[in-house]
Amino acid sequence: MPYAAKITGIGSAFPAKRLDNDELAEMLVRQGFATNDRWIVERTGIRERRIANVQNENETNSSLGARAARKALSMAGRQAEEIDQIIYATCSPDTLLPSTACWLQKKIGARNAWAMDVNAACSGFIYGLVTAQQFVQTGQSKTVLVIGGEVLSQITNWNDRTSCILFGDAAGAAIVEQVATDNKARILCSHLTSNGCLSDLFHIPAGGSNLEVSPEVYAQGLHKMHMNGREIFKVAVRTLTECALKTLEKRSLPIIRLDWFVPHQANLRIIEAVANRLAFPMERVLINLDRYGNTSAATIPSALDEAVRDGRIKSGQTVLLDAFGAGMTAGALLLRW
Ligand code: ACO
Repeated sequence: MPYAAKITGIGSAFPAKRLDNDELAEMLVRQGFATNDRWIVERTGIRERRIANVQNENETNSSLGARAARKALSMAGRQAEEIDQIIYATCSPDTLLPSTACWLQKKIGARNAWAMDVNAACSGFIYGLVTAQQFVQTGQSKTVLVIGGEVLSQITNWNDRTSCILFGDAAGAAIVEQVATDNKARILCSHLTSNGCLSDLFHIPAGGSNLEVSPEVYAQGLHKMHMNGREIFKVAVRTLTECALKTLEKRSLPIIRLDWFVPHQANLRIIEAVANRLAFPMERVLINLDRYGNTSAATIPSALDEAVRDGRIKSGQTVLLDAFGAGMTAGALLLRW
């Protein structure tokens, strides 16, 4: 490849409203579903999440994405006009048509870019980064904006106590730029997979072209997320571990020499199980799910952004991103910051 790809800027954005476990439990109990803060913290590690007010133009998916993008552009020292490609990873788009990437393009004024969405659920940001890397390495694009943004609260089934405790809203963004192949800081390698045979484990039955949202469909909540949490848990631990190991193997990097592990933030017990299998210390695992829950494609860029800005991630350090999501999709990406 004539070039390498490097993340030169990162940013994140969250809605203003916090919903803590006590408030959520109160809401669920009023609806007749027993739960409490202790159960949620013990089983998931989540304490609160952010909920977007989509009536507010600043808190739609593409608006959160635009806020994150501006921060990433500022860190990279770039203007929106310099972006030549936008990849928006989301499973909760503003509209089915056009793409959220196009709505975002309008908001930030990236008039020289071409824009598309990627739907790989929670693995979306890594799928997006790998896609950006390919365009940058071949010289097709110079400056790519990759967003992971979600307003999951709109597709959460608030009558399902097992799943609604997990999700939240957020966006994270990265600027991926062309650098020389011998640049120390760059994306090093990745490994992507998906197993469509497991699609039933986590899906939204209605709202696509298979099933229109009729009053009957609406009453049954088929336009919301349906999840088999117990099965996903097992698949997640296995695939996150496999993707991490396969990616590290490509660079012959022993895990102990890795500086930071940034797993998808779905459940603290999943993360601990994976760290345990990898024999990697939890002190070097980035966690933000206690404050934001599972924000799908936004978990990894938002956790990365936080750690870069507070100085935990330093120049020259190796960072492994690792995600799984509906599909079941999965992927890991190794980079040197
Ligand atoms: N409060 C109290 N009790 C509850 C709650 C709740 N909110 N939810 C479920 N329970 C009950 C169950 O009914 C069950 O009761 P029973 O034993 O009487 O049947 C008991 O708690 C245990 O239920 P499990 O499902 O076994 O609980 P588990 O420990 O597996 O935790 C959870 C459930 C949190 C969903 C877990 O399985 C999980 O996190 N799975 C992964 C889900 C996930 O990551 N989804 C996102 C996929 S990624 C993407 O693409 C967005």
